[in-house]
Amino acid sequence: MKTNIIALCGKGGVGKTSISALITRILAENPGKKVLAIDADPSVGLASALGFHAGKTVDDIRNGLIADITGGMSGDKGEIVSRLDYEMFSALEEKGNIAFLAIGRPETEGCYCQVNNILRDIISAIAENFDHVVIDGEAGVEQINRRVMERVTHLVLVSDESKKGLTVAGTLLSVAENAVDYEMAGLILNRTRNVSDGAVIPEGIELLGALPEDDIIREADIGGTSMLHIPECPALQALRTCFAHMRISL
Ligand SMILES: Nc1ncnc2c1ncn2[C@@H]1O[C@H](COP(=O)(O)OP(=O)(O)OP(=O)(O)O)[C@@H](O)[C@H]1O
Ligand SMILES: [Mg+2]
Repeated sequence: MKTNIIALCGKGGVGKTSISALITRILAENPGKKVLAIDADPSVGLASALGFHAGKTVDDIRNGLIADITGGMSGDKGEIVSRLDYEMFSALEEKGNIAFLAIGRPETEGCYCQVNNILRDIISAIAENFDHVVIDGEAGVEQINRRVMERVTHLVLVSDESKKGLTVAGTLLSVAENAVDYEMAGLILNRTRNVSDGAVIPEGIELLGALPEDDIIREADIGGTSMLHIPECPALQALRTCFAHMRISL
């Protein structure tokens, strides 16, 4: 089984978390598929967008281990790996065919590269048990690769119609082109109000689709309703059509 690893990147506030949650929902509508949603944003918005409660994060696990090592705990690499392996599996929250994992804060002071590498390997190993992995990333894709897992297959840039948002998307793509080995990259334009407005898409970016400004999304966020439970709505419908462009079969 080959796992699709879909990472969402883009300027702040453009809709990455909402769209990550909706992508997770659409992928999980096929009961035969398993989906892992990873929150790589320290402010853990994806948990509430999916109705999970964000317990232990990867960062908590990492800090616990580092505290034990600096407190004098000895242990060979094998023991450390099996402890981290166990803790990571217990940090996974599951609901039906969806599992959730939060990364927590980015690297703290000091370099614990070995621990970081072990954690990344464990996340990659966990990911292999899923058909799809959706990563809501605050950071650029190269940070996702460094912190979360080595490989992203689908890079989804998200932007509103603003020049600022689209410039950030263009910059992220050019960084990713040099730093990351993904299979496809494309842009989702979010919160469009009028298709004829014609936002200027940076050259070389494939447009996957446009999601309209949608009161159901906005109200769900205000009320704290999970994106798994909102009714069918225009933004959700528009997102469904993006999957063909992403070359992902549902
Ligand atoms: N298509 C849409 N229609 C209406 N509101 C939307 C839509 N997409 C996102 N929003 C709203 O925009 C706000 C920002 O969305 P969201 O939190 O998903 O963005 P983000 O890119 O994850 O932000 P951050 O960079 O802070 O993590 C939220 O209040 C959300 O409900
Ligand atoms: Mg977010």
